Amino acid sequence: MIAPSVLAADFDRLADEIVAVVEGGADWIHVDVMDGHFVPNLTFGAAMIKTAERTVDVPIDVHLMVERPEQYFDEYVDAGADILTVHAEATTHLHRQLQRVRELGVKAGVAINPGTPLSAVDAVWGAFDLLLVMSVNPGWSGQRFISESLDRLRIARQRIDRLPEDSRPWLEVDGGITADNAADVVRAGADVLVSGSGVYGGDDPAARTRALRQATVD
Ligand code: DX5
Ligand code: ZN
Repeated sequence: MIAPSVLAADFDRLADEIVAVVEGGADWIHVDVMDGHFVPNLTFGAAMIKTAERTVDVPIDVHLMVERPEQYFDEYVDAGADILTVHAEATTHLHRQLQRVRELGVKAGVAINPGTPLSAVDAVWGAFDLLLVMSVNPGWSGQRFISESLDRLRIARQRIDRLPEDSRPWLEVDGGITADNAADVVRAGADVLVSGSGVYGGDDPAARTRALRQATVD
């Protein structure tokens, strides 16, 4: 699946930019929420989720790069989030947060930074629906893919494939994904490719979304 990140869109034409990637075949819209504390950058919140939700019909995949993410769960689910992903590094009570997200009736994701061992999620397998392996240090769009992420994806894939089929989370990769490395991350086991500048970095996001998907099957 392809999940374009609106962080890299042209905000002057936000609705058009969101429609364009869905016309290009995007499966989800990825919304990067940053609080200026967990990551140095500050972005947007419920208003962006609402805009995406009323503009297109695909699931809204919300990536919370915030401290104490639980304070936003209700608001973001009301705004239309379909998946809420929290960072393992951002909360002391990871298991409780995942449970709370599921109780709200949406999918629960866990994200891990490039410097966080995969074992950070060892105690919570079964409690989440999506594992997000960051392939850049979160904060900005347009950074270069960290190549060591491929090994991390392979290891995560092996671990996921040992779970019963009906409880396997999606494996998502986020950061520096372009048509040049899309096939590599898919071969390493990723199911969902987030792409910001890879999709919005030119003047035809629909075509770039199609090209990204094509690159995964080349
Ligand atoms: C990084 C964000 C990403 C980012 C992706 O902090 O979580 O979703 O927008 O942008 P690119 O694809 O440009 O790295
Ligand atoms: Zn993201």
